[in-house]
Amino acid sequence: MRLVVTGGAGFIGSNFVRHVLATHPDDRVVNLDRLTYAGNPANLADVERDARYSFVKGDICDGALVRDVIRDADAVVNFAACSHVDRSLVEPDEFLRTDIFGVHTLLEAVRELKVPRFVQISTDEVYGSVERGSSRETDPLRPTNPYSASKAGGDHLALAYWSTYRVPSLITRSSNNFGPYQYPEKVIPLFITNALEDRPLPLYGDGRNVRDWLYVLDNCAAIDLVLRKGKDGEVYNIGGGHEVENIVLTREILRLTRKPETLIQPVKDRPGHDRRYAVDSRKVHQLGWAPKHPFGRALEATVDWYREHAAWWTPLKSGELRTWYEQQYGAHSGRGETP
Ligand SMILES: NC(=O)c1ccc[n+]([C@@H]2O[C@H](COP(=O)([O-])OP(=O)(O)OC[C@H]3O[C@@H](n4cnc5c(N)ncnc54)[C@H](O)[C@@H]3O)[C@@H](O)[C@H]2O)c1
Repeated sequence: MRLVVTGGAGFIGSNFVRHVLATHPDDRVVNLDRLTYAGNPANLADVERDARYSFVKGDICDGALVRDVIRDADAVVNFAACSHVDRSLVEPDEFLRTDIFGVHTLLEAVRELKVPRFVQISTDEVYGSVERGSSRETDPLRPTNPYSASKAGGDHLALAYWSTYRVPSLITRSSNNFGPYQYPEKVIPLFITNALEDRPLPLYGDGRNVRDWLYVLDNCAAIDLVLRKGKDGEVYNIGGGHEVENIVLTREILRLTRKPETLIQPVKDRPGHDRRYAVDSRKVHQLGWAPKHPFGRALEATVDWYREHAAWWTPLKSGELRTWYEQQYGAHSGRGETP
C-alpha cells in the first residue's frame, strides 16, 4: 500500500508510521507534516534511512501541495491537527484552520484524485462529557471547547463528503493516548518529566476528572485495522477500557518515579473542563481489535521511556514550552516551569 500520513512527525502519527513500516514490509509511507512546535523529525530518526519512508514538509491547508503529495496514494491517514485543549482556549484560529479547513483541503484533493481511502483521526472529545455509560458512534456530537469543536467540524466534513460525493472517508475516535514521543505539554509526559525533575505536578481542579487511557501502540494497531478492514462512511470508537481519575493517575506516576505526593500542586480548573469521556468500542472489537497493553505495565514502560530519553524532552520543555507558558501567564508566575 502507498500511504500518505499527514501529521506523521507528531506523537501518534510517528508511532503509526513506525508501526506500519514494521508490520507491512511492502508498504511505502510519505509523511506530510508542517513541523509545528509539536512536530519533531527526531520522532522518526530511526526510520529516516528506510527506503520505504519519505518526508515532505508542508501544510495540509496548501491544496496544490496536497494534490502533489497524494496523487498516487492508495490511502491518506490524517493525524495533522492542533491537538492541545489549553492552547485552543487562547489561540483558537489556528485550530479552526488546520482541524477544519485542513481536513476540507484533504477531502477536496482525495475527491479530485479519486484516492480510494481517507482515514480521519479524531477524538472521543467530540462527544463532550458523559456522566454515565459510554458514547456510541451514532451519538450526537457535543464539543465544549475550540479544540473539540474544530475536530467535530472535521468529522462532519468527512462524513458529509461520503454522503454527498462518495469520498471513501472513515473516522476513528480514540480516547486519550499515552506513550513514547508525546509532547511534554500533555498530562502524562508533563507529570512524568516534572516528577523526574522534582518540580510540582499542577493538577486541575479537584483531580476527579476521568479519562479512559489508551496506549499509543494499541491505538496504532486499531487505526491500521480500520484503514485496511473498515467500511467506508463509518466511524470507529477506540477506547483503552481503562478509566482513571486524574488524581489516581498522578499518584501512580509519583509512585513509579519514586517521588513524594507533596509534589502535587492543585491549580484552578481549566474552563469548560469535561468531567468524563468514555466510548463504547464494540464496533472496532468486532473488526478484530483488542488492546494488548495493560494500563499499569504500559504506564511503567512510558515512565521508563521518559527516564531514558531526557535528551529528547529536555530541550522541548526549556524551549518552546516554557516560552509559550511565559507568554500566557508571565515570566514570574512560575507557570512557565509548571504549566
Ligand atoms: N493525543 C491524544 O491523546 C489524542 C487522542 C485522540 C485523538 N487524537 C487525535 O490524533 C491526532 C494526532 O494527535 P497527536 O497527539 O499525535 O498530536 P500532535 O500535536 O503530537 O501532532 C500533530 C502533528 O500535526 C502536525 N501539524 C499540525 N498542523 C499541521 C498542518 N496544518 N499541516 C501539516 N501538519 C500539521 C504537527 O507538526 C504535528 O506533527 C490529532 O488529530 C488528534 O486530534 C489525539
